[in-house]
Parts: sequence; C-alpha cells; structure tokens
Amino acid sequence: MSILITGGAGYIGSHTCAELLNSGEDIVALDNFSNSSPDVIRRVKEISGRDFPLYAVDMLHEQGLRRVFEREDIEAVIHFAGYKAVGESVRMPLEYYNNNVAGSLTLFGVMRDYGCKKLVFSSSATVYGHSKEAPFREDTPLSAINPYGATKLMIEDILRDLYTSAPEWRISLLRYFNPIGAHPSGELGEEPSGIPNNLFPYISRVAQGKLERLYVFGDDYETPDGTCVRDYIHVCDLAEGHLAALRHIRGNTGAEAVNLGTGNGYSVFEALRAFENASGLTIPYEVTVRRQGDSAVMYADTTKAKALLGWSASRGLDEMCRDQWKYAGRNGDRL
Ligand code: NAD
Ligand code: UD1
Repeated sequence: MSILITGGAGYIGSHTCAELLNSGEDIVALDNFSNSSPDVIRRVKEISGRDFPLYAVDMLHEQGLRRVFEREDIEAVIHFAGYKAVGESVRMPLEYYNNNVAGSLTLFGVMRDYGCKKLVFSSSATVYGHSKEAPFREDTPLSAINPYGATKLMIEDILRDLYTSAPEWRISLLRYFNPIGAHPSGELGEEPSGIPNNLFPYISRVAQGKLERLYVFGDDYETPDGTCVRDYIHVCDLAEGHLAALRHIRGNTGAEAVNLGTGNGYSVFEALRAFENASGLTIPYEVTVRRQGDSAVMYADTTKAKALLGWSASRGLDEMCRDQWKYAGRNGDRL
C-alpha cells in the first residue's frame, strides 16, 4: 500500500517524499504545480534512487482524485496541498477558502468513499492567533487573524467533527512553527515566486545579491533585543515529524493536534547573525516599522510531540542556515 502525498512537489511535501522513500515507504505524489514544478519530483527520485507515481491533479477536481484512489492502493494521506501566503490570503480570500477548504473537503470526501481513514494534515502555529502564552501548548485557545489562518482552523474543526462522527478515523493535525532550511544534498528547498514574504527566503535573496537589504520589521518589541522571536525548524526535522505522525496514526485512532517546533525561540537579529556565520557573508539590513499582524514571541511547547509521536527536532539553527545557504547559493539562477 502507498502513502498519498498531496502537494508533494512543494517545499515541505518534497522533503517528506524523500524522507518516506528513504525509510522504505511506498508513495504516490499529487500536485497541480500551482506553486511548484514537476522537476522537483524528478529531483526527489534522483536523491532517493526510487521511482513512484506522480499525478498532475488539482484536488478541487473530484474526478481526478477518484482516479488516483481507483488506480492506487492508498493506505493514508499526508495532505500538504494548499495556498500559504498570509498577505495574499487577505487580498484573495475567496481563492484561499476555495482552494484550502473546498479542496480539502473534496479530498476528505473521496478518502471516505474509498475507505481511506488515515490522514496527516499540515496545520500551522498560526492557529494560536495573537495568544501571548508562549511557549504554545496544543490546548492554547485558538483563533484566526487572517483568511489563511482561518482556513487552517476551519480544516482542523472539520477534521475534529469528522472524527466525532466516525471514530475509526486516525488523524494527526500537525501545527508547524517556522520551517526553514533545505535538503542537505542542495537539491530540494523552498522556491518562493516573486519577492519573498518570509524571513529566511528574503535573507537568501539578499545573500544572492538579488535584493539590496533585509528590512527588519521592528526592533521595539518586548524581547531581549527588541526583534520578534520565532521557533525556526529544519524542514528535514519536519519531514521526520510526518513519518513519526504516520507511524502514530497506524496504531491509534483520534484527531490529535501536535506542535512541530524545536521549542527554541530566536530573534530576527540572532537569525541574521547565524545566517551570516553560515554563509560567510555580511547581510545589509535596515530596521523599519513593525509588520501588521506580527506577534512578538512564538515558540512551541514540544512535550506532546515527544510523548505522543516519540519525535523531537535534532537540527540546530546553524545547520538550518548552512543548508538554506547551500540550496540558495547553488540554485541562485533558478530562484
Ligand atoms: P508549497 O506551496 O511549497 O507546497 C504546497 C504544494 O501544494 C505546492 O506544490 C502547490 O503546487 C500544491 N497545491 C496547491 N493547491 C493545490 C491544489 N488545489 N491541488 C493540488 N496541489 C495543490 O508550501 P509548503 O511550504 O510546502 O507548505 C505545505 C503545507 O504546509 C501548506 O498547507 C501550508 O499551508 C502548510 N504550512 C506551511 C508553513 C511554511 O512556513 N512553509 C507553515 C505552516 C504550515
Ligand atoms: C508567517 C505568517 C504565518 C505563517 C508563517 C509560515 C505572518 C504575519 N505570519 O509567520 O502565519 O504560518 O509565515 O512560515 O505573515 N521579518 C522581518 N523581515 C522580513 C520578513 C520577516 O523582519 O523581510 C520578521 C518578522 O517580523 C517575524 C520574523 O521575521 O518576526 C519571521 O517572519 P516570517 O518568516 O514571515 O514568519 P512568521 O511571521 O512567523
């Protein structure tokens, strides 16, 4: 039987494909390439030395999804497919609700019809909204502060309701903190189109000489150096977290939310210094006004991930920066 990876050509999906293949799992990838390219799948096959089916299917297209379940013997789904840019979600809410929520509903309906009731879902620490209770535990009150966050919260609610209605479902809701870094081979990484919104992709573009300087969004927060603190996690640790979640749901029913973070918070300035050390470059920066919607401090309480999944992140900020720069430095022309 195979694990279906929706959004398998994306940033986290591609690393998870590689991780599952290396651990001996059979996979099937599905993507509509709205934010990725089929070449990523070629690279996953090259790195892992294994072949697997790829379906160029939009998850909103029910018949396309049915075809996949008809042809393949799917044991479980790891569901990454979706739009993920916060600012864009504010400008294009209907597109976000349609793709993320309606797309997920279509997928869950097809899974149910084919008796596939194991699911690992990409949620996000964004569901903690503006809570000031860092470190965030899974029972921290949830709220949505933008349409993107609302889609994650809605899908979590839908899945909790689904489990209540049919307790044979095995669902893992993984709340990622800030995934960064790249595959150590230098072959897989994040490929944002246009000017990046997130910190590390932006720093990488400055390091490549494609953007002039980093704008640090505020140095007047109540944090040790005044800049915001985040829980950056290596994308390979995240991929391993998905394998641990898959193994957990094989043995357990439920609809459990679990944080995937390191439990360590780093400020923007600390992140910048770590990247400079890893790359040997000086990154020009300028402090500017706060970005609307940013929380001062966000990092995970990782107790539940350790207890439930037997998983914890092992890679530190230096390794994250090294791999981030290896990918961005090598693939500068492609990015
Ligand atoms: P990504 O954009 O790199 O990957 C998403 C993939 O899904 C892309 O390859 C895209 O082409 C595909 N896709 C989008 N809509 C689709 C559709 N309708 N049908 C089929 N394929 C579709 O994003 P990522 O960083 O790998 O994130 C994966 C998931 O994790 C997303 O759901 C995202 O919201 C969530 N997440 C990401 C982060 C992060 O910082 N990267 C943080 C928290 C949660
Ligand atoms: C952002 C999203 C969050 C999403 C996550 C995915 C917002 C408000 N939040 O989180 O919902 O789940 O991405 O990875 O968009 N920074 C700068 N200069 C920059 C970019 C960022 O100073 O050019 C700072 C930000 O103020 C923040 C930190 O760097 O303090 C990290 O920012 P980012 O990488 O965008 O992640 P989040 O804001 O944590």
